[in-house]
Amino acid sequence: EKVVLAYSGGLDTSCILKWLLDQQYEVICVMADVGQKEDFEAARQKALKIGAKQVVVADVKQSFVQHYIWPAIQMGLIYEERYLLGTSLARPCISVALVEAAREHGAKYLAHGATGKGNDQVRFELSAYALQPNLKIIAPWRDVEFCRRFQGRLDLITYAKAHDIEVTAKPSTPWSTDANILHISYESGVLEDPNTVAPSSLYELTLHPLTQAPQTSTRVCIHFERGLPTTVKDVASGREYNTPLDMLTFLNELGGKYGIGRIDIVENRYVGLKSRGVYETPGGTILYAAHQDLEVFSLDREVLRTKQLLRDRMSDYVYNGFWFSPEALYVRRCIELAEEQVTGQVTIELSPGYCRAIARKANDSAGALYNKQLVSMDEHGGYVPQDAGGFIAINAVRIREHVRAFGAYPTD
Ligand code: ARG
Ligand code: SIN
Repeated sequence: EKVVLAYSGGLDTSCILKWLLDQQYEVICVMADVGQKEDFEAARQKALKIGAKQVVVADVKQSFVQHYIWPAIQMGLIYEERYLLGTSLARPCISVALVEAAREHGAKYLAHGATGKGNDQVRFELSAYALQPNLKIIAPWRDVEFCRRFQGRLDLITYAKAHDIEVTAKPSTPWSTDANILHISYESGVLEDPNTVAPSSLYELTLHPLTQAPQTSTRVCIHFERGLPTTVKDVASGREYNTPLDMLTFLNELGGKYGIGRIDIVENRYVGLKSRGVYETPGGTILYAAHQDLEVFSLDREVLRTKQLLRDRMSDYVYNGFWFSPEALYVRRCIELAEEQVTGQVTIELSPGYCRAIARKANDSAGALYNKQLVSMDEHGGYVPQDAGGFIAINAVRIREHVRAFGAYPTD
């Protein structure tokens, strides 16, 4: 039987590859290039040497940025108020590549190296079932035999050595990472104690805001059409970036240099565990801040409120692995409807460790909700201040009635 294995080149999936071969499977290894720094050629050779029938490297960077990251920015997705979902968004995108390879090679099985304790197993498998409902999943880390044989890293290393599988020195870092063009995440190992401060050597995408970043500020202008970034301009050099991939690559570099987008959190995994994670999302953090500012500027207040509720739902859907689901389709359409109004430009100031909007404008001020005449302290602009008296008086009816019925409000 043929199986497509989501292969990373690392210890786990290399041992899983060998283990699948021992079970008489024919294994096609698939690596998805989502923008992680990786020697794909070396990984290919490694897999072939172990015995993979074929190794496919799918370059899905462009699709990842355009079809997953950009919609996430448009929807303002953020999990538990801090996590920009870098790994969560990559999983459905990678799953598309896996399922396509399975189809091309006529494989009935899909294998992955995600653990039984995590979110990734849920994301990969729900995405795979959505894309190819009759696919069969092999998850070795949930297999009784596999788990009996391999308790953890040490057993894997012993097995690898016994089977002439290259083991890279030892783990070079005492934690596990997941990298793509949106972020790098760090979990487990020494990070499992949430009260242990992550070593400063951990960070790969961002400089330390105080000790390494330039102690100055710089600006970028980001233009949005219907909530989607369409141009990023570096004010210092005057250079413009116009494709999603170029915009994100540039913002990652600049944000990284300024130490922007580091978070250190404990989050709730879908399976019910709390887990500590450290993340670096430089470009995504800048885009998020710019989009958020433009939304408040351009959306009707009540639409904005409703949109935020939907955004929180959607963030949970994406985190939990339901990118391809009826509810996600539905909510995404609703948010897109609101985003039709979110067109304009935001100026962002980057300073060490931090970015914030400092100016914004609509494309066409006549077609925008912000009304300078109406809000101005210098003219009436059609607003009737006397009306505000009645507005307040009617609102006060309820406030006063409460006192009549239940007595004075507590003030201490
Ligand atoms: N906790 C994050 C998430 O669930 C990151 C997961 C990282 N995955 C990994 N295989 N290292 O999205
Ligand atoms: C894993 O368990 O494979 C990584 C962590 C996660 O998926 O949440």
